[in-house]
Parts: sequence; C-alpha cells; structure tokens
Amino acid sequence: MKAIEIRKKYLEFFKEHGHRVIPSAPLIPENDPSVLFTTAGMQPLVPYLLGEKHPEGTRLTDYQKCLRTNDIEEVGDNRHLTYFEMLGNWSLGDYFKEESIQMSFDFLTKELQIPAEKLSVTVFAGDEDCPRDEVAANCWKKAGILDGHIYYYGKDDNWWIAGETGPCGSDTEIFYDTGKPACSDNCQPSCDCGKYVEIWNNVFMEYFKDENGKYTKLAQQNVDTGLGLERMAMLLQGKETPFDIELFKPVMDKLKELQKIDIIESRRIIAEHLRASIMVICDGGKPSNVDRGYVLRRLIRRTVRHMNKLQIDLNEIGTLVDLYVETLKEMYPDLEKNSNMIKETIIEEKNKFVKTLAHGEKEFQKAMNNAKNQGKNEIDGETLFKLYDTYGFPPEVTKELAEENAMKVDMEKFKELFKAHQEKSRQGSEQKFKGGLAGNSEIETKYHTATHLLNAALKVVLGPDTHQRGSNITTERMRFDFNCDHKMTDEEKKQAEDLVNQWIKEDLPVTVQEMTKEEALNSGAECMFIEKYPDIVKVYSIGEVSKELCGGPHVGHTGEIGTFKIKKEEASSAGIRRIKAVIL
Ligand code: SER
Repeated sequence: MKAIEIRKKYLEFFKEHGHRVIPSAPLIPENDPSVLFTTAGMQPLVPYLLGEKHPEGTRLTDYQKCLRTNDIEEVGDNRHLTYFEMLGNWSLGDYFKEESIQMSFDFLTKELQIPAEKLSVTVFAGDEDCPRDEVAANCWKKAGILDGHIYYYGKDDNWWIAGETGPCGSDTEIFYDTGKPACSDNCQPSCDCGKYVEIWNNVFMEYFKDENGKYTKLAQQNVDTGLGLERMAMLLQGKETPFDIELFKPVMDKLKELQKIDIIESRRIIAEHLRASIMVICDGGKPSNVDRGYVLRRLIRRTVRHMNKLQIDLNEIGTLVDLYVETLKEMYPDLEKNSNMIKETIIEEKNKFVKTLAHGEKEFQKAMNNAKNQGKNEIDGETLFKLYDTYGFPPEVTKELAEENAMKVDMEKFKELFKAHQEKSRQGSEQKFKGGLAGNSEIETKYHTATHLLNAALKVVLGPDTHQRGSNITTERMRFDFNCDHKMTDEEKKQAEDLVNQWIKEDLPVTVQEMTKEEALNSGAECMFIEKYPDIVKVYSIGEVSKELCGGPHVGHTGEIGTFKIKKEEASSAGIRRIKAVIL
C-alpha cells in the first residue's frame, strides 16, 4: 500500500469514529521560539491537551509534517529520517485507553489487514509516579492481541514527554514483527536487532511534569497517538528501508543514473536531506547561520557534499528538486505552488557553498605549502578538520588533492576531531529540543565531567550501590539525581564536595575508549540505561576514580573544571535524591 493510501485510510477511519480532520501545522512552529521545528503531532495541540477548548471538538485526527534533527548524522543507514510524516488521533478529555486501543487494533488488523500475530505491544510497568498499566494490558487482550505479546517496561520505554516539562503520561507502543529471526532467547520489542519495529505510540496524557520534576494530574485525560507514515509504508510494502518506497524511489533511481561513484549511504543522505530541505523551505524556512536556518543550511550542504562524493554534476540539483515536487505534489499540494521559490533557494544555497568550497581550495594550497616548508609530507588532522568545519571541505576531497601533490593526510586525527565535534553537535541539538540551549559550550562540557566525578564521589560517601538516576545540565548549573534512602547530612554533602574538588586539584586525565557493550559492562563501567546505547559504546575514564559509559564530550583534564560547589540537596521522588551544584 502506498503512503498516500495509508494516510487516506487513516484519516477516513478516524473520521468514521467521530474525529474531525484538522490540517497539518507548518514545520516551523507558529509562535513557539522554544523549539526549532514541529517534531510531533501533539506539539501544535499542547494548549488543548492542557484544557483549552479546541474549536473542532474533542476528537481530532491529522497528518503532521515533522522534522527531528537529533540524529542527523545517522542518516544514511537503513532507517533514520529527519523529515517524516506522523499520522495522529487525539482525544481531548474524550475517550481514553479502551477506545483508543480498540481503534488502533481495528485499524491495523481490519483496515491495513495486518495479522494479529505480527503485532506486539508494550505497556507501562508502573512506578512511584504512575501505577502499572493493567488497564491498557487488559484492553489489548480484549481487543485481540495474542497471549505473550504484551510486555511491561518502565519510564525509559513507556513514558512520553516532549522535552523536559509539559503534558505527559504513560504510553503503549505497538510493534510489528518483521519476521526476521530472533537475536536471542530474550529478543523482545525493546531490543534493537530489527526484528520488532515500533509502528504506533498511544500516549495516555494525564499528567503535567513541572520544572522540579513533579507530576500533577491534568484537568482532563487525553490520548495522543503517533504513527510514522514512511515506516508503515515500508513494512506494508515488505521493503527493507524507507528509501525503497515510492516517496524516495524515483530520486534514488535518478541518483544511481547520475552518479559516477556508487555509495548507497550517500544516495540516501542526498535523497533524505533534499526532501527535508524542500519541505522546510516550502513552509517558509530560509538558510542562515542560526537556529532553523542553520539546520536547513546543513541539510543542503550535506546534500551538495554527497553529490560531490558521488561525482554528480551539481547543476543536477534542480532536476532532483523538480523530480521531488513531481513525486510528492499529490501528498503536499503546496509544493507545486512554491516549486520555483524552493528550487531557487536551494540552487542559491548550493552556489554559495560552491564558493565556500573554492575558498577551501585556496586554504588547502596554503596548508600544503606550510607543510612542505616545514619539511613534512602530510597535512595534519587539525588542518583537515578546519578545512571541513570552516570551509565545508570534505576530508576525502582534501585527501585526493593531497595525493595529487604527493602528500598524505592524517585521517586518524581528523576522525578523532570529527567524532568529538559530532558528539558536541548531537548534544547541542538534544539540548535545544529540551530547553532551548546550545549545549556544547565549554562550561557545559565542564559540568558534564563534574557529573561523572560527583557520581563517583557519592559512591564513596553513600556506598557503592549509589547510582545516577538522571541528570540535567545548563550553562548555569548541573542537576544530578541518584538513589539514596535518606536526606544527606551536611557532613556527607561536604565529603562529596571535597572529594570532587580533590580530584579536580589532582588534574586527572580524562580518557576515552571504544568497546562493545558487553566489554564495557564486564569492565565494571558505570551505566545508567544499558539498552539506550548502541552496540559499540564509549567508556570515559577519569584517572582511577571513574569509569562510565557516555557519549561525551568531556574536558581533557579535571583541572580544567574549576571549583565545584553543592548548592542544594533535596528529594526528587521516592528513594531518589537530587543535588544541584555549580562550578565557580
Ligand atoms: N507524541 C507521541 C510521539 O511523538 C505520540 O504521538 O510519539
């Protein structure tokens, strides 16, 4: 079934079940500077989830254009997309678990004809904030989910909130069994092996989480659901990746025709980023050096870079835009109206980037002459990175140029610097989504390392079973949640603070090693949520005092941190304490 048919069926089904079809909000949120882009169908509906009356009533459905850039560097693999369409249905204080679950089950099994045995669901396991969701589990059984196909997970998996605060609640997620072999005896929806793919998320939004992490009941019980359209189309069409469905296929094929070098990841990146850029520009986005504009700029530049990589004539970018407008106009009629503007914006940005690349070439000549004057026959990693970062010069291009001049490049060092940069920008975009902060500043990096030290110090002071339960960093302070059955005494607080400061004084080196998850756990590294990490993880060590799975970034030596001061120690939730601390 084509994506557009799935969308039609979905809206039709919910219309028949008393929902009003509302239009997709623009990708660029109106009157909401706190987020860069619309990332979920519920986002434009927040006031109504909080109790304001919606003019269309209490049952709504729509398709929503969404952009999520947290994982932009992952695009190119077989599943990540930045732009996607989310189908959603909402109850604003109207139906709750039973009806929501029954409708989801019926839509999947009757309208999309998915056999029940291919479906598994997860429900909330319960904790001190919200009880175990036996209600949802029973509704699933009644609807027809098979025995043994219901799993219970905690907040990490079955709780939904957009960012740090706001309306939220437990959710029930529906998974599709692709039929791939189980990865282990314990293979289940939460594992990442690809057997189970999440297709739909029904959030039972009945709480509000405030800045202190406290949950209060909302005035009404809502349902917020989201179904990823491209993914559903991929599964129903039996395809391996979203790039094989009709929304991407014409452009993917065209790229194959145009390319002189065959790299599948680059074709996917071009196809994905170009579609996302087109959608953002259609909704009023303009490339620039800040915020939304910068995201768009990066999307277009990465498109151009990968066209270069495949040695595709850059003038073909207009052809690709035309092809996309043609492919997608039935789904998004605005594309056709705005096609000239979209094409011009992309071509202009491409031209700017081509000029930047020309500057980079000059810079390369300089770097090469410098190296030669120093009697070296290698371009160092820092220069490679600068050429990449400032001049948008892909390292492969630098390498080729270097080779033409009988020079080598320090690709290893480049990769190291690139990884550090990637982590910083990932953290940056996650922070931005959470609280409108850039997140990769020097001070936040210091706080990040201080967090590891505090984690280690608390184990010394309160016992080895003390573990991190959460953390949050801004440019002003750090917050650290951990398990502890009592209010810390002044003495204990002082001991922990002194210990952290002692380690800072000792100027301990911070080192990083990559290893498999299993090796990391066997090495005794500290880890908060093992299932959240990829198969290969990074383990940061601070001298002999701390070893932790973490994405980074961190300072090189603890001496860079400054003076650590605990400002407050308070209850966070049952059995969990919270420390707020600053660096002076
Ligand atoms: N808000 C939830 C999500 O984004 C359900 O729509 O998954």
